[in-house]
Amino acid sequence: MATLATTVGLPRLLSALSGGEMVDLDRHLDAHGLLPSDRELDANGLLDLVERSGLRGRGGAAFPMATKLGAVRAARGPAIVVANGCESEPISAKDALLLHELPHLVLDGVELAARAVGAAEAIVAFETPNTAARMSLENALSERRAERIDSTRFSLFAAEERFLSGQETALVSQIDGGPPKPTFVPPRPTDRGVGRRPTLIQNVETLANLALVARYGAEWYRELGTDAETGSKLVTLAGAVENPGVYEIEFGTPLGALFAAAGGLSSELAGVLVGGYFGSWLPAAGVGALELSNEALGHHGAALGCGAVVALPARSCPVAETVRVAIYLATETAGQCGPCVHGTAAIARTLHGVAEGKASPTAFADLKRWAEELPGRGACHHPNGLAHFVSTALRTFKPQFADHARHGPCDGCAAEPVLTFPQPSPARP
Ligand SMILES: Cc1cc2nc3c(=O)[nH]c(=O)nc-3n(C[C@H](O)[C@H](O)[C@H](O)COP(=O)(O)O)c2cc1C
Ligand code: SF4
Repeated sequence: MATLATTVGLPRLLSALSGGEMVDLDRHLDAHGLLPSDRELDANGLLDLVERSGLRGRGGAAFPMATKLGAVRAARGPAIVVANGCESEPISAKDALLLHELPHLVLDGVELAARAVGAAEAIVAFETPNTAARMSLENALSERRAERIDSTRFSLFAAEERFLSGQETALVSQIDGGPPKPTFVPPRPTDRGVGRRPTLIQNVETLANLALVARYGAEWYRELGTDAETGSKLVTLAGAVENPGVYEIEFGTPLGALFAAAGGLSSELAGVLVGGYFGSWLPAAGVGALELSNEALGHHGAALGCGAVVALPARSCPVAETVRVAIYLATETAGQCGPCVHGTAAIARTLHGVAEGKASPTAFADLKRWAEELPGRGACHHPNGLAHFVSTALRTFKPQFADHARHGPCDGCAAEPVLTFPQPSPARP
């Protein structure tokens, strides 16, 4: 996995990386020093610091961390912290990198988050196949126990490998012994989550950032990024670049600079997918000037989400890539909200018909209508995400979809898939 800084002041999160190995406690402390003690930085001080830093969640929704801390502190009952390292987005690899190579930075963040909400207990969650994360976390926790670093009682939780596993209410359900299915909110996990206790759920990259904010301060933190989106962001770059991998960038970095840091493009592009499988397809023309922040991408109807970016090579077929992912997402519905179950399946089926040149005359009108009607019709954002992904594909690749509807598969349809995802197994229906 390649990691490169693209800006003065970077890397921050990735500064202690050590050639693919887990960074042990000695090396971690050499790089960052001890955490401020409880007396140096208490719960109120932490909340104030997070507020001033402008730290937002890195799991996809970019929600301000200070607001969530405030909500958990205001809720009744003994709070608990969940570090979300599920990374159920198949093309994202940044949380796996953090958990495997920089577990102490994440655990520092969990310890601080627990301090901020007065929690005595914390759970670090990852997906079951991520055995590298489990081993690093177990090693790191035993190093920390030996040095009596933490006041918090930590445990690990291996979630199912499903697209919805990392959705916060689905994660709460699994930790409580249930299926990986989202639940309707309210109540939000901040009020009633794990064991019906107030629960702070934060992405592991958010928590790793907290570990830096607590050590270096809010002003230092704001030196990078934009006014609205402060600090740095881990981005997983895949597809037609010379060195795909995880990169740490400043919010607002032009996509062209990220491509350059990755050794440049390895071919002409058909388009770019920004924000993962709930993200947006954008045309290749002028894409290098796109700034990687939610605010700037918002002007193009896109968002950075978890930070997964795919440069689709011109030899690949965007129709085939979109259809495969749409079918995958439709099969990943948790199967409990009618409009989601039927709507996502109808979209996937109709798209497949278009790709095969067997579409009904109303296929494009149907797809447009469903993509407009589906958002907001389920307990979670799954239908919204699929609808957005598909409608940006239909807009960006309009001629290619029209061509497939008339003539069926093209040469690019047989190319090796760029957008990949876990295949169903007998144990994973
Ligand atoms: C379908 C779906 C899947 C999600 N998967 C993840 C995930 O794997 N990891 C994650 O941190 N957040 C994921 N989220 C977002 C979480 O629900 C939640 O917002 C996040 O963990 C909060 O942490 P943050 O505020 O630090 O980003 C997902 C959301 C949705 C709708
Ligand atoms: S909207 Fe879909 S994925 Fe989300 S909970 Fe309902 S059925 Fe499951």
